[in-house]
Amino acid sequence: MKFFIDTADLNEIREAAALGVLDGVTTNPSLMAKAGVTDFRTHYLRICELVDGDVSAEVISTDYEGILREGRDLITIHPNITVKIPMIREGVKAIRTLAAEGVKINCTLIFNPIQALVAAKAGAKYVSPFIGRLDDIGQDGMQLIHDIRDIFDNYGIETQILAASVRHNQHLLACALAGSDVVTMPLSVIDSMIKHPLTDSGLQKFLADHAKLTEQLKSK
Ligand code: E4P
Repeated sequence: MKFFIDTADLNEIREAAALGVLDGVTTNPSLMAKAGVTDFRTHYLRICELVDGDVSAEVISTDYEGILREGRDLITIHPNITVKIPMIREGVKAIRTLAAEGVKINCTLIFNPIQALVAAKAGAKYVSPFIGRLDDIGQDGMQLIHDIRDIFDNYGIETQILAASVRHNQHLLACALAGSDVVTMPLSVIDSMIKHPLTDSGLQKFLADHAKLTEQLKSK
């Protein structure tokens, strides 16, 4: 399973990349606004220089021609740019056209399995089902991942499931068990992947015992 970070904050991306297990980055217009980005092209380029993997850059247009124009422009920034296109009628048409040109597409804002099937048929490299936002409205976000996995496996579809809107490491564990290809998550969830209280207390005990032994050896 690939690990992507879901942020436009360069410091967070740098920190996650330093772990050595980061495979890519997803951004969206809200994350770009939160990071206070003013120069989009330069910002995407910086991200691509920090991480050797697919970097999703989302279009703002909602009409077919506009999505094509933005998508074709975004891919000139860096070969790792993946064009993020929302699951709307015009978006599906644009996915079909851009995918035929060899553009990597991440179809975003997926909330039901049939939307994922449509995006895959149109040629998207990734589909992004939003787990947390479904949980927020009282639905089972993880069921969506299971359903898409089943459908894609039924038909040998190679489009990758990129689980998004991941809020905690139980989502992450569930995604790994469900066979999600990629999980994109905030830095807080990346940090939580390597944390366990018993790891911390166990390490403290090992270090304390080692220090005690060293003292005993010195005093002999
Ligand atoms: C996915 O690519 C989105 O950027 C993201 O995961 C949305 O997450 P949110 O629901 O926490 O905003």
